[in-house]
Amino acid sequence: MPALLACFEAECRATYPITEVIYSCPRCGGLLEVVYPDLALDAAELKRTWRQRRMDNRPLEQSGVWRYRELIGFLDDYRQVVSLREGNTPLLDAPRAAGYGGLRRLTFKHQGFNPTGSFKDNGMTCGVAQARRLGMRRVACVSTGNTSASMTAYAAAAGLQPVIFIPHGNISYGKLAQALEYGAQTLQVEANFDQILALVRQLADRLGIYLLNSINPFRIEGQKSIIIEMMDQRDWAPPDWIALPGGNLGNTSAFGKALRELRVQGFIDRMPRLAVIQAEGAAPFYDFMRHPRPGAFQPVTAPDTLATAIRIGDPVSWPKAWREVADSGGLVEKVTEREIADAKAQIGLCGIGCEPASAATLAGIRKLTAAGVIKRDDDVVAVLTGNLLKDPDYVYRYHTGQLATAAGVRIEGKYQNCPIVAPNDPDRIAALLGNT
Ligand code: F0G
Repeated sequence: MPALLACFEAECRATYPITEVIYSCPRCGGLLEVVYPDLALDAAELKRTWRQRRMDNRPLEQSGVWRYRELIGFLDDYRQVVSLREGNTPLLDAPRAAGYGGLRRLTFKHQGFNPTGSFKDNGMTCGVAQARRLGMRRVACVSTGNTSASMTAYAAAAGLQPVIFIPHGNISYGKLAQALEYGAQTLQVEANFDQILALVRQLADRLGIYLLNSINPFRIEGQKSIIIEMMDQRDWAPPDWIALPGGNLGNTSAFGKALRELRVQGFIDRMPRLAVIQAEGAAPFYDFMRHPRPGAFQPVTAPDTLATAIRIGDPVSWPKAWREVADSGGLVEKVTEREIADAKAQIGLCGIGCEPASAATLAGIRKLTAAGVIKRDDDVVAVLTGNLLKDPDYVYRYHTGQLATAAGVRIEGKYQNCPIVAPNDPDRIAALLGNT
């Protein structure tokens, strides 16, 4: 049996053809996932094949997503694929950040090296391929910025019409600039992310547009490749922990699904634990996971964080994320604005850098090692989800002591690096540089 769409809810598990245009289960309203009922892979053989494909110059093999297509096998015709050579992101050693995080060693899987600068590209190449297969002409998403930048780029490359809905005044200029440049029809709606998502779900059918938010299960399939590639780069040795930021919880769902499938198919012999880190002002999943029970999920109605990528109060994928965190023996932590900002500066001082939401990982690791939950010798990979240049405004404000929350609370960064205004005078400049 080829790939199917299946309801994620354990009591339902209804299945649908892979070509049905649905975003939730028509029977019970549950989330959907892609399943491969007959999948039985030869792990040893594929590990070799996947390595060899890196030497092959064809676009499909050069993609850090499609190279692993045997585990993402929902298409029946790869001519639908548009690749911008997504994935292929490095694992970087960061001794300084390790020390800051209370670890002997820490590596970053940096998704900011993607073509549009975030992990969304891994999923979007799949979502857009599915849109083409379905014959859709217009694609849309609600976004805190990165999804819209990525969707627009892939839609443009594929000749589809991109429409994006973003919270007015609450996305960074770096991300908005990308979407405008790639040609999105851009609607800045006066509502927050959660409200706009509800609105667009209503509109999708009416306007005949294909929704590419992370409720779209094909995007989740693509984001699995972040983990597959990470394991490939580690010669299939699983770390103890994988830390990632949590917003709408699509990535958490994708990582957990990838790990489960890799284990079932014999690629890895144990599960790393997922550590999902949320910003304190937008931490409904953290609250829920303290006493998880069906029906107990409480959205945050006014989410607030300067890490705008994860400014989400009602994450749609929480049921999947719950299962994945539990199955991996993982946990959820939350961190303050100050902790995020300082952790981000530390990642910068490694010569690596990332956007604010990504730095929640290091802030969370620091908190978890201090509490003795993560041990100093543990093998930890933190996923940096977006590039430093996504939000230069935040960076400038931090280093010049002007970073403040929406409520006006100043964040005094510990690692400020304020530029100095210098006179056009060699002696005084020499003095400023500590030479006399
Ligand atoms: N990090 C970055 C840089 C993001 O852009 C996002 C989500 C996340 C982390 C959280 O990932 O939603 O899978 O838990 N950005 C979305 C967007 C919501 O619209 O670009 P998640």
